[in-house]
Amino acid sequence: ERDSGERVFDLNLRHGVSHFFDGLETPTIGINQSYLGPTLEMHAGDTVRMNVTSDLSETATVHWHGFHLPARADGGPHQPIEPGGSWTARFDVRQRAAMFWYHSHAHRRSGPQVYQGLAGMIYVRDSASEALDLPNDYGIDDIPLVVQDRAFARDGSLVYSTRMHNIMMGMMGDTMLVNGVVEPVFEAKSDRLRLRLVNGSNARFYRFGFDDGRSFHQIGTDGGLLAAPLPTDNVVLAPGERAQVIVDVSDGRPVSLLADGLEIMGMGNRGRGMRGPGPTRDSDRPTDNWMMGERERRDGMMGGMMDERRRFTVLDIRPAASRRRAIAMPRQLATLPQIDPGDAVRTRRFVLDMGMGMRMMRGGGFTINGKSMDMQRIDETVRVDTTEIWQVENASMMAHPFHIHDVQFRILDRNGRAPDATEQGLKDTVVVYPGEAVRLLLRFEDYTDPDLPYMYHCHILEHEDAGMMGQFTVT
Ligand code: C2O
Ligand code: CU
Repeated sequence: ERDSGERVFDLNLRHGVSHFFDGLETPTIGINQSYLGPTLEMHAGDTVRMNVTSDLSETATVHWHGFHLPARADGGPHQPIEPGGSWTARFDVRQRAAMFWYHSHAHRRSGPQVYQGLAGMIYVRDSASEALDLPNDYGIDDIPLVVQDRAFARDGSLVYSTRMHNIMMGMMGDTMLVNGVVEPVFEAKSDRLRLRLVNGSNARFYRFGFDDGRSFHQIGTDGGLLAAPLPTDNVVLAPGERAQVIVDVSDGRPVSLLADGLEIMGMGNRGRGMRGPGPTRDSDRPTDNWMMGERERRDGMMGGMMDERRRFTVLDIRPAASRRRAIAMPRQLATLPQIDPGDAVRTRRFVLDMGMGMRMMRGGGFTINGKSMDMQRIDETVRVDTTEIWQVENASMMAHPFHIHDVQFRILDRNGRAPDATEQGLKDTVVVYPGEAVRLLLRFEDYTDPDLPYMYHCHILEHEDAGMMGQFTVT
């Protein structure tokens, strides 16, 4: 028996200087360090206290993405931490074993703050998962990988553009940072690795796979383990989504984990290149832009967009020893809560849209149900101890990862079709492709607050900042 005491984490938000490239300095934001923050390790049943102080020059927040907790502890835009100020959040860890993450959720500033490094990972362990025969040794055979594309200027500084097309497409870059490192190499000392992937990018969607096409097992989704290991050769993650995979490196051969950037634009391209295995074909590449004029195209504003299909190396793995034996996976991983739409007391609709032309340029185009985020407006009020269906519809021409605070939900269907096996686990972020209606089953429990809301929003951070976000209370 382990004792479930209170665990205290002291987190200091600060400006720093990072050395991503030899001889160059990059001004960044970090937590207790120059870029990103420490991985916070906790156990289901713990009570945690987060003491957050800020030495930043602007208002920030720290949101515990994926956590079921009281609204006052959520770290959303209603829990600002002023420069020189502090904030304490105390909550019980009521999660299953999974990897979560924390990041800035400052009002209209999440994009630039996360981009500069205001994020970190959270491991939650539980006794059931620790009893499984899976790699569990942090940093040895259980490796977190925060994947973030970034754009750099020649002097090494980060480039964050607020041009219209960077807001529309979200901010993308041509350089991959993995745990804040360019081109990391991992010397593996065991024959099996557990990789915990979080797409911590502002906007880019990826398909992950290995350079030799080897298959592996996906064992977890955003908020927990799958019922059983799922053999596959690729995993798609939108911003905010996580996955846990087990890869066998017992053959002793070096192997690289790759990430292909995915096209997320265009009605005609719905889901194409995002579902099936293997690299996307060049003929799928968009040849035109439905929004930009000829002049903007000449001016190079299209750069980031035509660039979506870029291939990145995430991790070069160098196994130390060859044992040449296949390792059996556990047959069962977890017992997932039953999913029964008949439990739902009501259905709410959420229509995501981006607007067009002048409306978008004035900043009023990024909406949910026709409304842009308003801190003073509560959009939905939910009753505690109820189950609901949320139907999320995408009326725009671009895929959006829809994230809901406070809950781990289940995906009922996409346009009436059952979700893929990879989406049958616990989720807090779900991609909604153009023209799609995705139905989610959510259960609201434990915490109520008549005044303080939770957020739901697009996890493309530039869309969130531009207003594709709403607020709900649980009462
Ligand atoms: Cu990962 Cu509302 O955020
Ligand atoms: Cu979006």
